[in-house]
Amino acid sequence: MSNIKSIGILTSGGDAPGMNAAIRAVTRAGISSGFKVFGIYRGYKGLISDEIEEFSTQNVSNIIQRGGTILKTARCKEFETPEGRQCAYDVLKRHGIDSLCVIGGDGSLTGARIFANEFQFPIVGLPGTIDNDLYGTDWTIGYDTALNTIMECVDKIRDTATSHERLFFIEVMGRNAGFLALNSAIAAGAEAAIIPEISTDVDQLAELIKNGFRKSKNSSIVLVAESPVTGGAMGLAQRVKDEYPNYDVRVSILGHLQRGGSPTALDRILASRMGAAAVDALLDDQRNVMIGIRNDEIVYVPFVKAIQNEKTVNREKLNTLRRLSI
Ligand code: F6P
Repeated sequence: MSNIKSIGILTSGGDAPGMNAAIRAVTRAGISSGFKVFGIYRGYKGLISDEIEEFSTQNVSNIIQRGGTILKTARCKEFETPEGRQCAYDVLKRHGIDSLCVIGGDGSLTGARIFANEFQFPIVGLPGTIDNDLYGTDWTIGYDTALNTIMECVDKIRDTATSHERLFFIEVMGRNAGFLALNSAIAAGAEAAIIPEISTDVDQLAELIKNGFRKSKNSSIVLVAESPVTGGAMGLAQRVKDEYPNYDVRVSILGHLQRGGSPTALDRILASRMGAAAVDALLDDQRNVMIGIRNDEIVYVPFVKAIQNEKTVNREKLNTLRRLSI
């Protein structure tokens, strides 16, 4: 049994739909298990500058359906320094906060891991990122909502692509991971997905598109993951244009709209289960773990594994996309 009495919650890095549902779940499960719960505003930045408020269940009423994060978020350089982390530790001590729940992506969990080791401080992480690039969990909070948002956008772009008989390169987020691009390509019936995990031959891609045009298709859609490796949608469109000047090519970069919106049912349920599991993990004296979900079961993933960047792309999905794009 643990002797932890209080939990501080923060959201850090890029916001993701479902973070609010996670904040609600940690707060409510925490309070019902007898913990004091504190909301820490603006991620590690707000922790260092002491932007902290004790939460009651009312603080998290009516937020399960809202995108973004009521706690705000930030990317914090200061927390990368020993002085910044010492300051954060002093603030936590002053408030009597003796554990943390960090909701964020790989950068945020990397910070959590360093801090937990440095101060022997109990931290549980929740995977909150639209990128789905954390190892050890099938889903991250926000990924499903972003995927659905992208799919709706691509459906709309298809209307104009078809009308003008154009080739569209649509760039989606994902930092250095292709999960959003590949899965939205399948969901939207695109011709191809260009992702950093798999190298792309422009000739092959152009050939595929040419074949499509020759058969019956009068437009083509290619999803491109943002990344220096893929060259992004702009870079790729330029390469295709240079070699095939007859193609009527357009680019659409979806950008930050992918991070907004009300979370899907899947994200709300995921965030609620993971939030409750984070409280159980602290009760159970688990430290330095991220809550994950595998085959619909909650699992504990050591931080060091979660952030290793080893999540692989599913080859069967790639093949399915190729087979269906003829
Ligand atoms: O990690 C989430 C993410 O949305 C990435 O997909 C993207 O590369 C990055 O954040 C964008 O960050 P920012 O909002 O700081 O520009």
